[in-house]
Amino acid sequence: MAGGEPAERYAQSESLHQRALQVIPGGVNSSVRNIVPHLVFKQAQGANLVDADGNTYLDYHAAFGPVVLGHNHPAVNRAVIEALEGCALPGAGVTELEILLAERLCRLIPSAGRVLFCNSGSEATLHALRVARAFTVRSKFIKFQGCYHGVHDAVLRNAQSSPGTVGRLDAASAGIPLESLQNTLVVAYNRLDEVEAAFAANRGEVAAVIVEPIAHNMGCVLPKPGFLQGLKSLCEQHGALLIFDEVITGFRHHLGGYQAMCGVTPHLTAFGKALANGFPIAAVCGQAEVMELFNTRPGGTVYYGGTYNGNAVGCAAALATLDILEREPVHGHIFRLGERMRKGLSEIVKRLGLRANVTGYGSIFLTYFLDGSIENYSDLLRNDAAKFVEYRRRLIERGIFKIPVNLKRNHIGYFHTEADIDRTLDICERVLKTMA
Ligand SMILES: Cc1ncc(COP(=O)(O)O)c(C=O)c1O
Repeated sequence: MAGGEPAERYAQSESLHQRALQVIPGGVNSSVRNIVPHLVFKQAQGANLVDADGNTYLDYHAAFGPVVLGHNHPAVNRAVIEALEGCALPGAGVTELEILLAERLCRLIPSAGRVLFCNSGSEATLHALRVARAFTVRSKFIKFQGCYHGVHDAVLRNAQSSPGTVGRLDAASAGIPLESLQNTLVVAYNRLDEVEAAFAANRGEVAAVIVEPIAHNMGCVLPKPGFLQGLKSLCEQHGALLIFDEVITGFRHHLGGYQAMCGVTPHLTAFGKALANGFPIAAVCGQAEVMELFNTRPGGTVYYGGTYNGNAVGCAAALATLDILEREPVHGHIFRLGERMRKGLSEIVKRLGLRANVTGYGSIFLTYFLDGSIENYSDLLRNDAAKFVEYRRRLIERGIFKIPVNLKRNHIGYFHTEADIDRTLDICERVLKTMA
């Protein structure tokens, strides 16, 4: 638990942050990690994080989602160490670990006729979009306002847009050629009519629709009944491919991805994050007919490469993670605790008469500070972002770590206990009272 005045409580973290600033732009290696207070973590175990000053936090950030079993999981670590003692990276041919993992994913995931490995969710969505473009011989694709699919040019627009740029051209980065952004059509999540209109206005030009089947980059916006099925039908009607970006939902919600729960099988899927409980590996999978276009097969026309693809660390960690997810009641546990958290938070919000909306799915939860229902990104513009961040800063002071960044979701893992949830609820109530 954190204690003392902030300046003294975070003294070591602050000093390390100042050092980082001298050599790393902004002092962090991913922009959304730039938080206040400038925490530097040095240890992670199970459900806990420890910072450089020795403050312990109950972690609900889970590194943006990968850590589903808990930090520093002994069985996953053991598998990685064993793999390192074998052959970590031959860089030629294939290893048995890669075959085992590909076989496993083809068995578990409805859309996986074939699978290829890479190292980040961004690579997985890049490859999925490129192969969709090659397969359809078309250039454009449709994405949804508020969804995020990684760092590459084609998708880096209209994620967390400001009110004036919702649905308009909103590059999330400088340095992207206009043509890359213009080939990406942006429509509102849960609005099949807008998808239909985009297809109609770009007849014969749309290669794919890419979607987070639950929009977790907006926190948690659930697909309305029929939305995902409607996307599949529109894609089929217009000769386009449906790509599920399951980088967050995959393995966290179900071993077969959210597609195994919602009953809609996309043509292609991107996975990452929870696949290996925090070790770097990602995957793109899909119908054999499409996947066989990659030039890992001689004669294939779609380039696929990567020095570290299929490395033993990622594959061994993924296999060990999947073993535990298959063998142990992980999803039952984290869904139950998620429900307990959401129910408890909803009761608190009601008791305190707050203008807040507790939401989530399975192991994911968060509290928006707004009234009314949420169907898409425009609804989230009503969220009081300052309050959202302030709430989380106050929780950090009391030893609960939820990343203090607007709209970010929280994750429960296998190491959290009912007692953790109840303690968290108690602290949340005390903090919310001070903010009411
Ligand atoms: C849905 C989704 N797709 C893709 C990505 C990109 O993954 P990575 O950060 O591993 O490149 C992310 C990252 O947060 C994501 O949330």
